[in-house]
Amino acid sequence: MGYNLLSKIATNNGHGENSPYFDGWKAYDANPFHPQNNPEGVIQMGLAENQLSFDLIQEWIKANPNASICTPQGASGFKETAIFQDYHGLPAFRTAVANFMNRVRGNRVKFDPDRIVMSGGATGAHETLAFCLANPGEAFLVPTPYYPAFDRDLRWRTGVELFPVVCESSNNFKVTREGLETAYEKAKLDNIKVKGLLITNPSNPLGTFLDRNTLKDVVSFINEKNIHLVCDEIYAGTVTNGDEFVSIAEVIKEEPKCNLDLIHLVYSLSKDMGFPGFRVGVVYSYNDNVVNIARKMSSFGLVSTQTQHMLASMLSDDKFIENFISESRIRLARRHEMFTRGLAQVGIGSLESKAGLFFWMDLRRFLKEPTFESEMTFWRVIINEIKLNVSPGQSFHCSEPGWFRVCFANMDDETTLIALWRIKTFVRKNRNLEIKTMKQYWQNNQPLMLSSRRYDDILTPHRISPHSPLASPMVRAQN
Ligand SMILES: Cc1ncc(COP(=O)(O)O)c(C=O)c1O
Repeated sequence: MGYNLLSKIATNNGHGENSPYFDGWKAYDANPFHPQNNPEGVIQMGLAENQLSFDLIQEWIKANPNASICTPQGASGFKETAIFQDYHGLPAFRTAVANFMNRVRGNRVKFDPDRIVMSGGATGAHETLAFCLANPGEAFLVPTPYYPAFDRDLRWRTGVELFPVVCESSNNFKVTREGLETAYEKAKLDNIKVKGLLITNPSNPLGTFLDRNTLKDVVSFINEKNIHLVCDEIYAGTVTNGDEFVSIAEVIKEEPKCNLDLIHLVYSLSKDMGFPGFRVGVVYSYNDNVVNIARKMSSFGLVSTQTQHMLASMLSDDKFIENFISESRIRLARRHEMFTRGLAQVGIGSLESKAGLFFWMDLRRFLKEPTFESEMTFWRVIINEIKLNVSPGQSFHCSEPGWFRVCFANMDDETTLIALWRIKTFVRKNRNLEIKTMKQYWQNNQPLMLSSRRYDDILTPHRISPHSPLASPMVRAQN
């Protein structure tokens, strides 16, 4: 069917499917790694999923059959759940989500269940807020590098724009008052009306989080300009040491002059609980009008009542949740450490970080030239030869070429070790190459492929006895 029969929104490229971020996923889909069936396939390290604590969830599900309406123990709740369609959501669900949000932030803040508005994941929450806060053509400032799908979530259907606040490696990509002012003034010169600032804290892709003073600067900046602040805290529960994370909800309590009507949070259970499939997102606004309007809009992206019903039970099991959050933090930190330490052994550094499901890998020295073309060329080597789908910095609008986001929590230990081994082998084979000789490689186009022979030498999962000390991830990560 001809595209000319469709709407402008349907036919524009607002979804962003043509970016390198999605190309990597396609490369993975075409040749996915499987330890036995396709051991030379592409390992997916472009997905920010938290799969490290699913055993705990499964145990809880088995121990609580009455939380589901599809078990003999819970079936009596089937009818009531199936017919419930109020867009306020189940009160028990909203209370449980609010308490979970408090707990993830160390109970230093208290969220009000009546301000919780449901949405289809944080994706839906962002779009809802964009619809509520800005008109087509108006913009949100957003510090770079940022989550690529913001271009889709905030812009595509709303016509709202994003305007970059350029952050750089020279100060570890920190958000500064100066950077915010520069972006604001530049937008003004471009005749773009700035309606808000969108920050992601902790950051995707950096895995870092903003300190209290920076958050105070942010709050004073948006108040001075009288623009909205949308704070995406979807990774709040992934911070290694929960006591170190400062939520915007804490900071505004300490800033009596802050206009609360300007403050809005986005949250979801996709990362902290690892449930992206449940599509549980939250708009939490301190502005009564935004709460009311967002709630009306939420009809387009409600969380299924069946999901609400089950999560109301799970999230209000205090003992379970307490243990889950702390165990999940420990496992994420261990995996992060295992990966970054392994890379450090071959001289690959990354931005220091203590949160998220990823880290920001510094491969600047591998680029033939400090350009985004070189970054793409090297990214193709990573995909086609090292066979890892990591995401290039340019898909996050990073201002400097050579940075890559590596996701580490969507796979098991074995796969992590294979990914690590592939990178190490690549670097060791080219140990003396560094910048000068890497140039030679590019000129001669020498194949730097991992030979399949060599690959066979690796201890693949089916060859190691599970009882071997070598099977311990920590032992093998030293290699
Ligand atoms: C910063 C950020 N916001 C929002 C989302 C979307 O999350 P959800 O699956 O809840 O829609 C993601 C997913 O990766 C993200 O990293």
